Amino acid sequence: MINFKNEIAKAISKVTDIDVKELETYIEIPPNSDLGDYAFPCFKLAKTLRKAPPVIAAEIKENIGIDGEIIQQIDIVGGYLNIHINKETLVENVIKEVLEKQEKYGSSDIGQGKNVVIDYSAPNIAKPFHIGHLRSTVIGGALYKIYNFLGYNSVGINYLGDWGLQFGKVMAGYDMWKDEYDFTKNEIQSILKIYVRFCQEEKEKPELTEKAREYFKKLEEGNKKQVETWEWIRKISLENYQKTYKLLNSKFDSYNGEAYYNDKMDAVVEELKEKNLLKESEGAQVVDLEAYDMPPCIIITSAGTTIYATRDLASLKDRINKYHFDKAIYVVGNEQRLHFKQVFKVLELMGYPEYASRCEHVPFGLVVDKDGEKIGSRKGNSIFLEDILKEAIQKVEKIIDEKNPKLENKQDVARKVGVGAIIFNDLSNSRIKDEIFDWDMLLNFQGETGPYIQYIYVRTRSLLEKSSYTPELEKLNFSNLKEREAVEIVKLLYRFNEFVEMAAQKNEPSIVARYLIDVAQSFSTFYNEHKIIAEDESIQQIRLALTYCVGIVLKSGVELLGMEMPNKM
Ligand code: ARG
Repeated sequence: MINFKNEIAKAISKVTDIDVKELETYIEIPPNSDLGDYAFPCFKLAKTLRKAPPVIAAEIKENIGIDGEIIQQIDIVGGYLNIHINKETLVENVIKEVLEKQEKYGSSDIGQGKNVVIDYSAPNIAKPFHIGHLRSTVIGGALYKIYNFLGYNSVGINYLGDWGLQFGKVMAGYDMWKDEYDFTKNEIQSILKIYVRFCQEEKEKPELTEKAREYFKKLEEGNKKQVETWEWIRKISLENYQKTYKLLNSKFDSYNGEAYYNDKMDAVVEELKEKNLLKESEGAQVVDLEAYDMPPCIIITSAGTTIYATRDLASLKDRINKYHFDKAIYVVGNEQRLHFKQVFKVLELMGYPEYASRCEHVPFGLVVDKDGEKIGSRKGNSIFLEDILKEAIQKVEKIIDEKNPKLENKQDVARKVGVGAIIFNDLSNSRIKDEIFDWDMLLNFQGETGPYIQYIYVRTRSLLEKSSYTPELEKLNFSNLKEREAVEIVKLLYRFNEFVEMAAQKNEPSIVARYLIDVAQSFSTFYNEHKIIAEDESIQQIRLALTYCVGIVLKSGVELLGMEMPNKM
């Protein structure tokens, strides 16, 4: 496909002798397409060429020689060259490319041979699932697919919180109260209840905390009974998470969690000692980070135990050895910002600056209700993500029953729309912002929502079906797609890959989500203003081809976010 930016840069380079790559970085896209399709700010060259921007603009325009094939018209406005490209060339390029590549359209191989390790989801076993873990699961899952689409090899790691004092609490509680709870079905609920109760009671009875410590110590020492209980709790928790992961289309290549690193931490501690990085502070072993304006990173506590940071260092070393990663991304809430800064710094000081620079914490905001109140923060209020997803599906089922009771595969559609609504709501704003969780808003078929995009896609399907359309290149007369609204769509489709790459570069799936809203809205505008099933056969052909291409991009796009597309709804 023609790279218009590059073509324009090449043309300007010929008349200015400035490097194409440099020129390319200056080219902008005007906010209003009446001004042109691309704009070149001539003041960027004023220093090099020692001329005033308007003079440069006039000279470039004079000498560039408009070929008409790519550049059709150049206007000078202030120090800017406003460039109008040939729309027929654009339309032909985009439609041909989408038809040729189909669901691969927009993908690339810039990541070929590179591993991206994505640490996401990572719930804490035996503790209530925090809604923040839903965000991590959804954001990480989208990044996983986005990187793969760009040719990277994504490695999804679910670094389970499967070790720690919480097990001591559950085990102690279990021994005391197991007869009071039902373990015949939904054991996981009972385990959580025990955990929550234990946390409440230990506030008044500090001896309970001591008890939990004893249980956990036994587990650490490998006591058979505790180890078996631990395995059991881990197993049923994982089975429970799997239901959620299945609904969300989350994929993990490894479930090596904190426990997996228990016997791999000594080596890290040794290495830190050897490299003279450990020092004693108030009975603990720490890496001093004062020079970097950070509190010390604790490696061994004053009680002699290893801690979260120690395990993360061990897992990092393991990931370096296993994956030689090009990037290591940690999709974890914003409250752990300092932790990751410290861990990455320690890795650097240990002598791995190259790998440390490839690590990135990808934080995200809280989940709040529409009044800004934090969701799921109340004590003892354990939310199961699976329940939220099921509720979404039920709500959509109800909507379908009202609006389209005869729909086939109702349940399947409700699942795709309900789960899609939750995923899209999570990804539609930049991740660092708090996510507003409000049922009416996220299920609004007219809003900037998942269901809206699915609805527009279903629209494209029914148009194509009604006219039994199959794309045939020879029938397409590209000059017949001229309407401003149509060209706007084509320009967006043209930039699909650019947005996906940007999303990867910033680890920001919302860039893809916003893009899909733009595509859906611009299709809706076109559709409202122009008949797609038109009187003129040739016009109808090209409009249907555009409709078809919009469908392809919308479908690929939502799949990158982890959603599924219904064919009818
Ligand atoms: N389980 C942790 C938590 O819920 C998140 C783990 C994130 N990953 C990591 N490598 N530290 O807070």
